[in-house]
Amino acid sequence: MSGAVTLLRAPTTNPATRPELTDALRASVEAKSATALALLRAAVDEFGAAGELTFANSFGAEDMVLTDLILRENLPIEIFSLDTGRLPAETYALIGDVEKRYATRLKVFFPQSDAVETFVRTHGMNAFYDSVELRKACCFVRKVEPLRRALAGKKAWVTGLRAAQSTTRSGLPLREFDEGNGLVKLNPLSDWSETEVWAYIRLHDVPYNALHDQFYPSIGCAPCTRAIAVGEDVRAGRWWWEDPASKECGLHVKKG
Ligand code: ADX
Ligand code: SF4
Repeated sequence: MSGAVTLLRAPTTNPATRPELTDALRASVEAKSATALALLRAAVDEFGAAGELTFANSFGAEDMVLTDLILRENLPIEIFSLDTGRLPAETYALIGDVEKRYATRLKVFFPQSDAVETFVRTHGMNAFYDSVELRKACCFVRKVEPLRRALAGKKAWVTGLRAAQSTTRSGLPLREFDEGNGLVKLNPLSDWSETEVWAYIRLHDVPYNALHDQFYPSIGCAPCTRAIAVGEDVRAGRWWWEDPASKECGLHVKKG
């Protein structure tokens, strides 16, 4: 028997965040960036002048692509973020990095403190693990209600959603009418692959959440996000104890 033993180990850094930058990948990222930018510019022409266009930024990898496109091109698009109060430390660090790198201040919305206090006093600090209903109720208080305030008076919002992220997002168009919130919704990265997102980040040296390198492709609140295993779905680490069909927090639900 040979003395050489091959140990099968999980990689220590995430290969998905460092794709090989082939000519074909560079070309597809360039083409898709041009299309996304054209969509954003057209939205500025249609909604931007009166401050009626806003971008919902969770600081995930996709949102960092959009942040870079908007701030590098100086597009007059407001950028807001929902701070649920339960975000990972790495997300707060990234928010600080982005403000420094792009010399900007981001508009942060917080949940109503009395609603959070009532929810926690009634159901407990980590009630989201107890049932889908309580998890959705927590998401409502910490995300959905603040989103409604962020979108009040706006005619259109931009998101970093991609069709390939989950079954609940397949067929996602570039532009749609968001009936739930009553305004136009633009998804400039709807047809991007995860590899293209990471190629953009590498090509433009865009800052990103340190958790992505630790196998967190999709990042939300700290207690509701975990790392994924090799081969798992990109959203497998979000609300991992739930059925995939219920895995939306209420920001992106369709009427009916
Ligand atoms: S979620 O519905 O499961 O939480 P996900 O994390 O995939 O959503 O993000 C999808 C898009 O929703 C983001 O690209 C962003 O536009 C918006 N979004 C999600 N979370 C936030 C947040 N905390 N603040 C602002 N926008 C957010
Ligand atoms: Fe609450 Fe978890 Fe939803 Fe964050 S993701 S708002 S902690 S249930």
